[in-house]
Amino acid sequence: MIEFQDVSMAYPNGTEALDRVSLRIEDGEFVFIVGRSGAGKTTLTKLLLREERITSGRLTVNNFRLDRMPARKIPYLRRTMGVVFQDFRLFKNKTVYENVAFAMRVVGEKVSVIRKRVPYFLNLAELTDKADRFPDELSGGEQQRVAFARALANNPQIIIADEPTGNVDPEMSRDILNLLVRINKLGKTVIVVTHDWDLVNYYKKRVITLENGKIVSDRVGINVEHVEQYEAPYVQHSRDTDSEKTENNGGVAE
Ligand SMILES: Nc1ncnc2c1ncn2[C@@H]1O[C@H](COP(=O)(O)OP(=O)(O)O)[C@@H](O)[C@H]1O
Ligand SMILES: [Mg+2]
Repeated sequence: MIEFQDVSMAYPNGTEALDRVSLRIEDGEFVFIVGRSGAGKTTLTKLLLREERITSGRLTVNNFRLDRMPARKIPYLRRTMGVVFQDFRLFKNKTVYENVAFAMRVVGEKVSVIRKRVPYFLNLAELTDKADRFPDELSGGEQQRVAFARALANNPQIIIADEPTGNVDPEMSRDILNLLVRINKLGKTVIVVTHDWDLVNYYKKRVITLENGKIVSDRVGINVEHVEQYEAPYVQHSRDTDSEKTENNGGVAE
């Protein structure tokens, strides 16, 4: 569970990145965090990981009170979360299998557990046949799926993806989101940070919109505030996805 209670955060240079944010995300939810560049989305994810600290308010993540947690507990907090960064941060000299296994070895996981769990997550990310490849031998989308498999390796309750579709084409964006939906079906909380309204409108999940560090809307489904502005692509997009949904349900069984 994640709970922001009246949380504000200012960077040392005085930039107010978040302004009295209150927000609760239950275990197992799927949430989009949207907003323009500079709205405070990445700051919000950094607070969850305690890469940054809140300036005022209260922040609770998976039973950790982050605003008064000693630094020595940070590794335990972070083990409850899996994060996929925009630049993937894979080890170039390790194979796909090793990239995932390494994350488990670092936290002292048993060899028998590693041998069981790595193939499971590679399968989930549809990477079984790429297990022995190196990151350089994979497409961008495949590398990103490795990053997802690795984020899952230590069985975190929460998966956070910051702009996971930032550099990929629309078809690949859909693949990535479908993988996130599968991850959510495992019972994990999934938080997707994005500014891709088309994608958000397609999935009809909870959407939290940030503007200048404030929550300006929190609702399930279409982000109506932005429909007018994005009308043309939105209308076209929903037509596409309707036909696709009847064919194969787009991989998102509701
Ligand atoms: N390390 C930093 N130092 C000072 N200001 C920052 C820092 N990182 C981000 N900011 C500022 O905080 C605000 C929110 O940034 P950010 O959370 O990165 O937004 P988003 O991810 O929505 O684009 C912006 O005004 C940004 O310029
Ligand atoms: Mg950002």
